[in-house]
Amino acid sequence: IEFKIITNDGTHESMRMLIDLKNIFARQLPKMPKEYIVRLVFDRNHESMCIIKDNTKVIGGICYRKYPTQRFAEIAFLAITATLQVKGYGTRLMNKFKEHIQKQDVEYLLTYADNYAIGYFRKQGFYQEIKMQPDRWKGFIKDYDGGTLMECYVHSTIDYGN
Ligand code: ACO
Repeated sequence: IEFKIITNDGTHESMRMLIDLKNIFARQLPKMPKEYIVRLVFDRNHESMCIIKDNTKVIGGICYRKYPTQRFAEIAFLAITATLQVKGYGTRLMNKFKEHIQKQDVEYLLTYADNYAIGYFRKQGFYQEIKMQPDRWKGFIKDYDGGTLMECYVHSTIDYGN
């Protein structure tokens, strides 16, 4: 298992992995319009951390956008392929992601969690109570009716590695 940050850098390998990840999101997040998933996954402001099995196979990932001036990042999509859910990959992915984002000087994570994913996010240290001042994040991220806004504080000195 490997964790790789993939961006839309025009290479064949990145394109293939982003397409595989987009397909996992489309399947696992059926309420999200497919065009919206495609738009964000391939958007140059977004990056994705992919979980890669056997060197080539994308089995899940997280698509996010950093807001460097505001020192937070928004998680747009997160999913693990159906057959490999509830085996710990989602937890490992979030830990790797926190370890990565911590080095980018990000202090908070925000996400609109689907109702059935609230339990997962709680276990990963996300809360429904938003501690960030509204002027720091309001207007930067888009409101989304279908989910519950949750926040996670990324401590600058905690070792999230696993
Ligand atoms: N509700 C409550 N608890 C959950 C859920 C859930 N939906 N999913 C997993 N958990 C629990 C597990 O039981 C486990 O608990 P434990 O540590 O006490 O055993 C813990 O959360 C972590 O489980 P993992 O095995 O690490 O989780 P998994 O690999 O399945 O990844 C994920 C979790 C990403 C939510 C996955 O199940 C998935 O892809 N689901 C479908 C897509 C989805 O809902 N994505 C999130 C939507 S919101 C968004 O994208 C911003």
